[in-house]
Amino acid sequence: MRNRLPPPKRSALMTSSSIRPASDYPPGGDAFRHRHLLGIAPLTPWEISYILDAAEEWVEMNRSGAAKHDDRLAGLTIINAFFENSTRTLLSFEIAGKRLGADVVNMHAAQSSVKKGETLIDTAMTLNAMRADAIVIRHASSGAVQLIADKVDCPVLNAGDGRHEHPTQALLDALTIRRRKGRVEGLTIAICGDVLHSRVARSNILALTLLGNEVRVVAPPTLTPPAMERMHVATFTDMDEGLKDADVVMMLRLQNERMDGAYLPSAREYHALYGLTPARLDKAKPDAIVMHPGPMNRGVEIDSSIADDPERSTITEQVEMGVAVRMACLDILTRRKRGVPGWN
Ligand code: CP
Repeated sequence: MRNRLPPPKRSALMTSSSIRPASDYPPGGDAFRHRHLLGIAPLTPWEISYILDAAEEWVEMNRSGAAKHDDRLAGLTIINAFFENSTRTLLSFEIAGKRLGADVVNMHAAQSSVKKGETLIDTAMTLNAMRADAIVIRHASSGAVQLIADKVDCPVLNAGDGRHEHPTQALLDALTIRRRKGRVEGLTIAICGDVLHSRVARSNILALTLLGNEVRVVAPPTLTPPAMERMHVATFTDMDEGLKDADVVMMLRLQNERMDGAYLPSAREYHALYGLTPARLDKAKPDAIVMHPGPMNRGVEIDSSIADDPERSTITEQVEMGVAVRMACLDILTRRKRGVPGWN
């Protein structure tokens, strides 16, 4: 079953496939006008491209044998406030801040006064009183990050809120695709699995359609969000149909922690119908790449033979790009605070 719609209208400012020279962008702060990074939804293709290009500089530095350090955020304090578990996002924001010379402090909800009943607003006011220069937030509730952003004086970066958005994940995925495929436009991208509960899927659908790709969602009917047509996405319930001739296959984890009922008969049946196996991957293009934001459920949504295949799988590269993208975001969002010329 499928629901095909015309792709969104392409903008004159559509991103190019390769890195743009700085002179291609509007000068100073006009290249990225937002105070916070709360989602992909408010961004233009131009602004996404600007972040990806800025991240390339950090990929080079991070890969160099020399000291992986730059002191442009020296003297700034970044608070990572994580109200929900994380490995990749928390560590990569911490590494990103430290590689840029900032003082980075991690606040884990399990050890915080949230456990004593403190409200989110009071926690936000407390972080603000400590004069943080940027706050990175992960929270289980959609909209919680916006709530905090409205209360504090510094830039806020969304590290994932409920089912809503995970913008740095979508940006690192776009950078990974651009580096592997040579472009991130005009591709057929299948996002497969538990789309209903996935902020990663939502941010990726927004980013990848905005950049001019054909995005498909492949999921059981119970895990397909309503109104996908409004997001210019074709929906499939059959993996073989949805993967046909795809350039990119993006697998998602079954998010059992967000399920409040029975969405599936069993993990075994889910794997039988929706797990990515070598035979299913053969339906995609021969050079299709396979992505997964992690953490993975091996043997449920993806077979280990695919996840560990260095030719097809980009999973570790996605993690690597995450550090570079987060360095770019922290750099760009603190430019006003640092008085970078043109960023008033
Ligand atoms: N991809 C992702 O957000 O992973 P973590 O939950 O480990 O941060």
